[in-house]
Amino acid sequence: MPRFTVRNAVVALNIVLLTALFVHLKYELWHKHAPAAELAGPLHLPDELLDDYQASTTPQADDGKTLKANAGITPRRTAVVVASQASENATWLSQYFPLWEKNIYHVDDANAPLTVPKNKGRESMVYLTYIIDHYDDLPDNVLFIHPNRYQWHNDDPDYDGLPMLRHFQLPYLEKEGYVNIRCAWSLGCPSEIKPLQEEGEHRQAVHAGGDYKKAFQHLFPELDVPKTVGVSCCAQFAATREKIRERKKSDYIRYRDWIIATKLDDNISGRVLEYSWHMIFGKKPVHCPHAEDCYCKVFGLCKLDCKDEGSCNGRYTLPPYSSLPKGWPYIGWQGEERQRAASEE
Ligand SMILES: *[C@@H]1O[C@H](CO)[C@@H](O)[C@H](O)[C@H]1NC(C)=O
Ligand SMILES: *[C@@H]1O[C@H](CO)[C@@H](O)[C@H](O)[C@H]1NC(C)=O
Repeated sequence: MPRFTVRNAVVALNIVLLTALFVHLKYELWHKHAPAAELAGPLHLPDELLDDYQASTTPQADDGKTLKANAGITPRRTAVVVASQASENATWLSQYFPLWEKNIYHVDDANAPLTVPKNKGRESMVYLTYIIDHYDDLPDNVLFIHPNRYQWHNDDPDYDGLPMLRHFQLPYLEKEGYVNIRCAWSLGCPSEIKPLQEEGEHRQAVHAGGDYKKAFQHLFPELDVPKTVGVSCCAQFAATREKIRERKKSDYIRYRDWIIATKLDDNISGRVLEYSWHMIFGKKPVHCPHAEDCYCKVFGLCKLDCKDEGSCNGRYTLPPYSSLPKGWPYIGWQGEERQRAASEE
């Protein structure tokens, strides 16, 4: 017989309390909720309500109705994939976006931690290499960008990538699957390439029109060559894991093999891919959403005035040169002192 000691009393008390807790939890978690869930279950629903039921029970990131117990706790993984050259500097990304996974590829350094099989096709070689190497373990959201914080094509009054990425609306990306990180129409929209009309053409400026048709037939053998291709320029965009995986890995390998094998100059093969990504990710050949709508959805900058698809309250103006002055944004194009045109926030 166990003797009645203080120790045994404490043990007995614990058992009683644990039992009470168990009974309480069983009631809370099972009896209270299980029957309700059962009643709402598919077996009790007429067919015409089944779709509604499934829609409302499919876990969704942003509707607050999710039934998954841990939704909202598991952090969504966001990664940046950066196509860098030795002369460029992407450290600002670690400084300002510490939670994003950084994948900084150095195309011109074979000994860099991340590099590419061949330095060809500009950023496209990096983007494709990342997708191919991570196809089975992609993060939820991937932003494909260039390294420097200030770049002439960044969609910001100071060409500053920091506010551009701070404003970027990840929930909109998660809804769309693919989003171009640029709304300005000034290069690429409403039409950049006319593959049929321009076949064989050679221009002084870099333009992929002359070579696009042949390339397109190789990259997308299942599609008819479009008459017109347009998307806002410059090959910075984002895609979700699901969107990337709508294509087979072998497609991405085929695109990369084309770049490795092509005799086209880099500035042309890179340009072909620049004007293909939106189609790779399921958009129409001309993907030029109205700038006003685009700024609102992509960057949360709503109610801008973009009547002529022009500058949208000065959000973006085409710069005179593609290399920014040393000391930008505090030194201007004539070497004069300059204030920022907009906030970093
Ligand atoms: C890169 O940029 C950071 C500021 O973001 C600066 O502190 C650092 O010195 C730069 N590195 C090089 C090698 O220029
Ligand atoms: C494109 O690249 C080739 C090879 O590097 C170069 O000769 C040509 O000048 C470039 N075209 C332009 C317009 O920069």
